[in-house]
Amino acid sequence: MVLTAYNQVAIPSFMYGTAWKKEATTGLVTLAVESGFSAIDTANQLIHYQEALVGEALQVLAKKGIKRDSLFLQTKFTSVDGQGGRTPYDAAADLTTQVRQSFDSSLIHLGTEYLDSYVLHAPFQRRGLGAADWEVWAVMEELCRGGKTKMIGVSNITAAQLAQLCDQAKVKPMVVQNRCFAALGWDRAVREICQINGIIYQGFSLLTANREVLGASEIHTVARRLNATIAQVIFRFAMQIGMLPLTGTTSEQHMKEDLESDRFVLTTEELQRIETIAL
Ligand SMILES: NC(=O)c1ccc[n+]([C@@H]2O[C@H](COP(=O)([O-])OP(=O)(O)OC[C@H]3O[C@@H](n4cnc5c(N)ncnc54)[C@H](OP(=O)(O)O)[C@@H]3O)[C@@H](O)[C@H]2O)c1
Repeated sequence: MVLTAYNQVAIPSFMYGTAWKKEATTGLVTLAVESGFSAIDTANQLIHYQEALVGEALQVLAKKGIKRDSLFLQTKFTSVDGQGGRTPYDAAADLTTQVRQSFDSSLIHLGTEYLDSYVLHAPFQRRGLGAADWEVWAVMEELCRGGKTKMIGVSNITAAQLAQLCDQAKVKPMVVQNRCFAALGWDRAVREICQINGIIYQGFSLLTANREVLGASEIHTVARRLNATIAQVIFRFAMQIGMLPLTGTTSEQHMKEDLESDRFVLTTEELQRIETIAL
């Protein structure tokens, strides 16, 4: 299954996330793709991601016959503040140069000539969008228009910021990637803006940000009815409400189980109950 953004570019409906895997990144990305994932999320941000090791996994996979164009690669530009002191670009350069250098370095790390999706890791300020955001976004628009990336997007964004970006950008984001809290109706306000604008909403930390919800009897009842795991219920719920879930599992069995989530179908009532479970 795929999801299609307003510019008609498609993304596989489940994405494998590569954060916090350190030196295990090469093996886990290889395993994830061999298990059936074809969309990979990373970032050019050494404190949380090993983008170059994702590239190493792609080389291993290429030798086994899995071609670059059969995979969907997404990475991110992270500002100096989010880099923990080790920037993959000249931290003293202007932002336009930083984005171009970070993008070029991502291409080298991943051994590719283009990206499928390039994401701004977070706006520079908590409220509204400022000059720094617009400068970075303009470079990302240029990369997209020039065909260096098929999509551009933004992560860790509020509904108000996203509305402003959709309103004022020359090229609207095609993807949004946010931490998804059940207590916020699974990020309902942001998802609604995405739906109106044909933006693909990617949700992360669906399990880890919602531990209390996972223990709720309503979820266990659904899991029992479907003979599914709790994780499968949450991932399938996410898909059925139009979200593209990320999983960062390090377990081969969980990879397989997560990918099998689409075998189940929750009823409209079950979807409504889970969507509002923590409101
Ligand atoms: N844009 C951002 O700022 C940002 C921030 C955070 C994450 N992300 C992206 O999102 C990805 C996923 O992150 P995440 O926070 O959702 O997940 P995660 O923290 O990487 O992993 C999920 C946790 O749930 C456990 N788990 C148990 N059963 C599972 C199952 N059946 N399937 C999956 N996990 C299961 C995993 O343990 P096992 O390993 O034992 O399965 C793991 O400890 C990251 O790798 C990254 O690519 C982006």
